[in-house]
Amino acid sequence: MADTITVTDNRTGKSYELPIEHGTVRAMHLRQIKANDADFGLMVYDPAFTNTASCRSHITFIDGDEGILRYRGYPIEQLAEQSSYLETAYLLIFGELPTRSQLDQWVHDITFRTFIHENVKKFMDGFHHDAHPMGMLVSTVGALSTFYPESKEIFDEEVQLLQIHRLIAKMPTLAAFAYRHSLGLPYRYPDNDLSFTGNLLTMLYRMSEAKYDPDPVLERALDLLFILHADHEQNCSTNAMRSVGSSHPDPYSAIAAACAALYGPLHGGANEEVLRMLTQIGSVDRIPEFIKEVKAGHGLLFGFGHRVYKHYDPRASIIKTMAHRVFEVTGRNPLLDIALELEKIALEDAYFIERKLYPNVDFYSGIIYQSMGFPVAMFPVLFAIPRTAGWVAQWREMLQDPEQKIARPRQVYLGYDQRDYVSVERREPGGTPVASGAGQAAR
Ligand code: CMC
Repeated sequence: MADTITVTDNRTGKSYELPIEHGTVRAMHLRQIKANDADFGLMVYDPAFTNTASCRSHITFIDGDEGILRYRGYPIEQLAEQSSYLETAYLLIFGELPTRSQLDQWVHDITFRTFIHENVKKFMDGFHHDAHPMGMLVSTVGALSTFYPESKEIFDEEVQLLQIHRLIAKMPTLAAFAYRHSLGLPYRYPDNDLSFTGNLLTMLYRMSEAKYDPDPVLERALDLLFILHADHEQNCSTNAMRSVGSSHPDPYSAIAAACAALYGPLHGGANEEVLRMLTQIGSVDRIPEFIKEVKAGHGLLFGFGHRVYKHYDPRASIIKTMAHRVFEVTGRNPLLDIALELEKIALEDAYFIERKLYPNVDFYSGIIYQSMGFPVAMFPVLFAIPRTAGWVAQWREMLQDPEQKIARPRQVYLGYDQRDYVSVERREPGGTPVASGAGQAAR
């Protein structure tokens, strides 16, 4: 049986045999299908890329129907149980788990670069006292490109690797400084004796003590959350990283774009929305009323639903289990009871069942972050820190892929046909009606 598909164009009666590779048809193979010689050729219309593969990737595998997530073939459950964030970052970027000496070198190379230029603090100082820390992160990570002008040599392996070290190392420092700025507290420099997450906790929370001693349960919980958030194949922010990266700017500029994409409430801002939603619901007895409103189309059940997962998000199950360990240290978050009941009711409700809406990674992560003392505005920032590993892994893969070019989608033009300029004295309110174009493709 041939791995091809035969398409018959009913406008012309012509048939075309198109190859199928890896379960896909190349969009460019459709271009040969033309209604007449003047026709541009058939295109694919796919707003929001719901059924378009933009790349071939070896990094992350998701089976949304089965609720499977793997990094480089390793199940997320095994990595969450046995790996560390930095080891997982190495795996994502280089494709294999590191040997002991590779891991030690990797951890050293990152730890060695946690400090940021003193001038970055001046940028931070320039922000308004109530600036959103994610806005500060977007700006300051982009500004790093001006400190490392050589970073635009993106195809130089050595330079590229150095920027990867810097990005992974400095994101927690930028994040912590943004947090301290929002509270009017002095910035705390990194403590390179500590682990990746221990260092983040010290930069966030150390006050007058000479040495901050992070709670090992919270340090590990944060590390685990970072493993779960490290990559998620072609999501909105990764698509931004690849798309902006495809015009070959330095990686700091591309990461700034990815952070901006992550900021939105439908992506990395969702756990912030979950917390607001749970707080607004306020008590378990008000859940049925809230669900009724959602079903009537008045708002979303944040933390539910996913473009890819049509099953329980495996990361949500791991986080839900971990929540109890965190609460032994921090005390139980009362919002957990509302979340558990909300989940129970939603999973039994036909509206959510029919649409295959299950809890996603954000449903429980916000409750944990809040219990650990983070304000909601820090949630997307805590997402951006670990996702940096995924972004740079995907960016690197894109640069190495000979099939990739500058990302430039097509459009279906439905606007005016050509019309003549009208002087301002002769214009009528609402313009001069002219027949609209008949689906012309931009060349
Ligand atoms: N609450 C209520 N209804 C929903 C929800 C929700 N959270 N999500 C989807 N639906 C409905 C939607 O209204 C639509 O109904 P209908 O068929 O009657 O029009 C149907 O389910 C299909 O939804 P969709 O909007 O076509 O699905 P999508 O793949 O475009 O959107 C999503 C995916 C994640 C943006 C969406 O589910 C959503 O907005 N969820 C809430 C925000 C959220 O939790 N985001 C975090 C995603 S996971 C982490 C990340 O990627 O960053």
